[in-house]
Amino acid sequence: MNVLHLDTSALGTYSISRQLTAAIVGQLQRDGVASSVSYRDLAAEPLPHWLPNPDPASDNALRDEAVLQQFVDADIVVLGAPMYNFTITTQLKSWLDRVLVAGRTFRYGPNGPEGLAGGKRVIIASSRGGKYSGGPAAAMDFQEPYLRTVLGFIGITDIEFVRAEGVAMGDEAKQAALQAAHATIGELALRKAA
Ligand SMILES: Cc1cc2nc3c(=O)[nH]c(=O)nc-3n(C[C@H](O)[C@H](O)[C@H](O)COP(=O)(O)O)c2cc1C
Repeated sequence: MNVLHLDTSALGTYSISRQLTAAIVGQLQRDGVASSVSYRDLAAEPLPHWLPNPDPASDNALRDEAVLQQFVDADIVVLGAPMYNFTITTQLKSWLDRVLVAGRTFRYGPNGPEGLAGGKRVIIASSRGGKYSGGPAAAMDFQEPYLRTVLGFIGITDIEFVRAEGVAMGDEAKQAALQAAHATIGELALRKAA
């Protein structure tokens, strides 16, 4: 399986989602699921805001095509997706702007939009300072539902969240969140091996 490993956190070595994506990819490698891993760090090498590329031979057009092709070639995408201001990072949004492309990853058919990128497994490391699962704060979560929507739009339904939430609510809550996230990673691997 070709694995695409993406990090989008701006917090470098302090980042929780980076720690989790590394653990997920490490597990996929240990389990022999990953035959190749390509890595993109969207904070270290950010993509600029999307603009049209009228010249297909321009550096920008070639870079955008490479970003799209790297995604198309992946069987498994491991995505670090922290919550910043209730949604995804701007780095991740710029990447999505290269990946949702009419005629390549979706098209409008007679029955409306059709996803063309199905068959991929996407594992998302979701880190957030507060807690949004269940309860009234779920209405403020424009991160996980948004990712489900955009990935679903291009045909991806095999989406799993490895969630560390409440990481800004004190040391105890942070440790509990990390423990829960690592337990989920262990279950992912078990499920794959079963
Ligand atoms: C710019 C910024 C905005 C944030 N906004 C939110 C937010 O809206 N809700 C929340 O629960 N946590 C928020 N946080 C906390 C992060 O979700 C938390 O630190 C998480 O660990 C970030 O993932 P990372 O460590 O991989 O960067 C924010 C953090 C930063 C740096």
